[in-house]
Amino acid sequence: MEPAWREQPGHIRPDCQESGPSRAGSLSRPAGPRRVLCAVGPLARVGYCNCGAMFSKGERLACGCVAPNVASDSAVIYRVLFNVVLRRLPVEVAHRLAATSTRAICRVPVIAAILRRFVVAQDRALRVEALGLSFPSPLGAAAGLDKNGTWFESLGLLGFGFVEVGTVTATPQRGNPMPRVFRLTGDRALLNKMGFPNDGVDAVSDRLERRSGRLIVGVNVGKGASTPIESAAADYRAVIKRAAGLCDYLVVNVSSPNTPGLQTMQAVDLLRPLLIDIQKELRKAKPNLPLLLKIGPDTPNHQIDAVADLALELSLAGIVAVNTTEDRGILSRPEDVAHVIGGGISGPPLRARAIEVLERLYARVEDRLVLVSVGGVSDAEDAWERIIAGATLVQAHAGFIYGGPGWPHQINRGLARRVQEAGAASIQDVIGSKSPGTSRNAFGLRPTAQDVPADGAVSLST
Ligand SMILES: Cc1cc2nc3c(=O)[nH]c(=O)nc-3n(C[C@H](O)[C@H](O)[C@H](O)COP(=O)(O)O)c2cc1C
Repeated sequence: MEPAWREQPGHIRPDCQESGPSRAGSLSRPAGPRRVLCAVGPLARVGYCNCGAMFSKGERLACGCVAPNVASDSAVIYRVLFNVVLRRLPVEVAHRLAATSTRAICRVPVIAAILRRFVVAQDRALRVEALGLSFPSPLGAAAGLDKNGTWFESLGLLGFGFVEVGTVTATPQRGNPMPRVFRLTGDRALLNKMGFPNDGVDAVSDRLERRSGRLIVGVNVGKGASTPIESAAADYRAVIKRAAGLCDYLVVNVSSPNTPGLQTMQAVDLLRPLLIDIQKELRKAKPNLPLLLKIGPDTPNHQIDAVADLALELSLAGIVAVNTTEDRGILSRPEDVAHVIGGGISGPPLRARAIEVLERLYARVEDRLVLVSVGGVSDAEDAWERIIAGATLVQAHAGFIYGGPGWPHQINRGLARRVQEAGAASIQDVIGSKSPGTSRNAFGLRPTAQDVPADGAVSLST
């Protein structure tokens, strides 16, 4: 019988309670019989458990302990930058500043070379074969981070295994009036009602034409704000016709809450003709290009099932779930944005529903569709949880905004460690391994928070 443990940051296994010498040089070891994990200094990358295992922020140790939520040096620097500079700026100004400076830094050849060598995922444990592509990491940049295809290569250098550019529309549009993105820092969430501001498919395609690296890039396609639902198919077709030859996959976005009427197209009787129309265009433009559909969290469960069935019927490549939610009840302080009419919420409050939708989809389609889980991924454990629940790929937006440039690399390292601990060869081997349909705890997976009974202790009998 293994000792009881809890999957909580900073919680340690009883068998690590004997004190040992601190091997961490300048790091101090807190006193007290139960607090056996060493503290980590503000700029220190690692600490040590008393059993000798090394840890960094939030990581699980081979001994079974969970490192405390202390930050790595880059995360601390970004947090200071975020609190002192970025947070004081309007969100979109901060975003533009971050994108422009990251792009400029990544253009310096020596920096790009360093990032390519040390940050871009190369660990075979992270590799995922899906959509006919070889993803170096299952972690992707979600739509909205690079709406215009201006910095996807920099996002790749920061460790994202793929980037979804867009949402792109047939013609340029300004989106809704500003301010239209709001921080909810207490929840590490965002509320946005951008309404697909973008340069239009021609400008975005010109940039994609100039792409040099091998980074996997998808294009997320939407309809124009002023296009009536009845003519939406023409909008999608125009984008696909121009951009299909320039990207690795396409996503049909019918789930943004910020474009009037868009979500009504998630109803199967509207969605079927739209997708058939799009597929016809795609057969002409680039027949084997994977086509995915992005759905929203506010879609009722019966409709999610119907959409999954339709995706199978039409042989789509996959589903991206989920977009932002209009449900403000998930916020800890909804009153902070009471003055904002409309918009969708991203970040950790969305996590529970994103997992619920993923589990529902996986139960229905298993590995017949590629499931891309997005919504509330904020650390490696979140990403891991999505993968073992059936996601082949994972995306994030808010997690990166709050986590900063070191965040994708941190998630990759945490995921690689998780693969190793599970005794698997790669991420590919553990996809869906926790779903009720498959044998639970295959690869020695540890129970997650939901598995922990009220008293918090779990016995792992052998
Ligand atoms: C500011 C902002 C802009 C976004 N723009 C788009 C978009 O253009 N197209 C889209 O499909 N999703 C868009 N999203 C939604 C994200 O791609 C993602 O589905 C959602 O934020 C949930 O993920 P997260 O919790 O990791 O942020 C946007 C999200 C934010 C916060």
